[in-house]
Amino acid sequence: MADKCDLCLLGLIVLSSLLTGTCGVDDGRVFNRSGENVRLPCNNALSECTTTTWNYNRFRHSAAAELIGLGIKKKETERHERLSLGSDCSLNIKNVTEEDYGSYTCRQFVNDKQQGPDARVFLHVLHVSVSPSSSSSQTEISPGRSVTLSCQLYSVSCDYLVRSEGIDLLWVNQTGVDLKTDSRYQILFSSDHCNISLTTTLLNEDDNREWRCQLTLRNQLETSDRYTVKYSGEETISGISFRSS
Ligand SMILES: *[C@@H]1O[C@H](CO)[C@@H](O)[C@H](O)[C@H]1NC(C)=O
Ligand SMILES: *[C@@H]1O[C@H](CO)[C@@H](O)[C@H](O)[C@H]1NC(C)=O
Ligand SMILES: *[C@@H]1O[C@H](CO)[C@@H](O)[C@H](O)[C@H]1NC(C)=O
Ligand SMILES: *[C@@H]1O[C@H](CO)[C@@H](O)[C@H](O)[C@H]1NC(C)=O
Repeated sequence: MADKCDLCLLGLIVLSSLLTGTCGVDDGRVFNRSGENVRLPCNNALSECTTTTWNYNRFRHSAAAELIGLGIKKKETERHERLSLGSDCSLNIKNVTEEDYGSYTCRQFVNDKQQGPDARVFLHVLHVSVSPSSSSSQTEISPGRSVTLSCQLYSVSCDYLVRSEGIDLLWVNQTGVDLKTDSRYQILFSSDHCNISLTTTLLNEDDNREWRCQLTLRNQLETSDRYTVKYSGEETISGISFRSS
């Protein structure tokens, strides 16, 4: 009986190492919010980064764009100004945008031949947007108005992460309280759970109030984005509102 179990266990170990072995170096994951500087690690780096190439593609089967070729940044990519190669061959992206999500592959070449397996990192970007947007002058953010904050996870595999990996989005206030039970807020998920929106009517006392959208992976905080209410140019005193500029 014990022998049988041991055999079984051995079989499982061989099987699982075969399954993971086919992918080479484990795929990495980086979560961050838009506007941050991110570092994507290269897990197959050799001693010199002159062997390093970084490729980007948004979808698994879409054409890859070469961002870094043999340690040299490609000038023709539209975001080349925000990219740099770290001393450990990691890829640094400044002021990340929601458009930057996707798959990044670090690959080493020596004498035109690839060395070792690909090291892939998936970048997932959290981004909060507000409607009506504060940039359009006619729809000012002011007390009495209704606003909707949408928090979207930009990701190649968001629905998979939600279904199988335990990714969750939630809205909290400054003290970290989950707002879904507060009747002041209407909180809705999109059907794929990759977009959580918060709608509320603004109150006088909301000036400078911050609402945060948190992304958790198996209940661990991975990243968050936020929105701070600003009643610019308007002051409200005893319910009378007047413009200061
Ligand atoms: C970051 O990018 C946004 C546009 O995506 C731009 O409005 C902002 O000024 C940039 N910030 C910095 C510090 O470059
Ligand atoms: C997220 O959902 C809200 C509410 O349905 C919608 O207004 C917003 O456009 C969505 N955002 C994105 C990025 O799809
Ligand atoms: C956060 O929300 C809880 C519950 O709605 C409330 O008791 C608390 O005062 C709020 N904190 C802030 C800073 O708004
Ligand atoms: C974004 O990424 C940087 C560098 O990897 C990290 O230091 C920072 O804590 C991250 N910020 C958030 C909000 O996740």
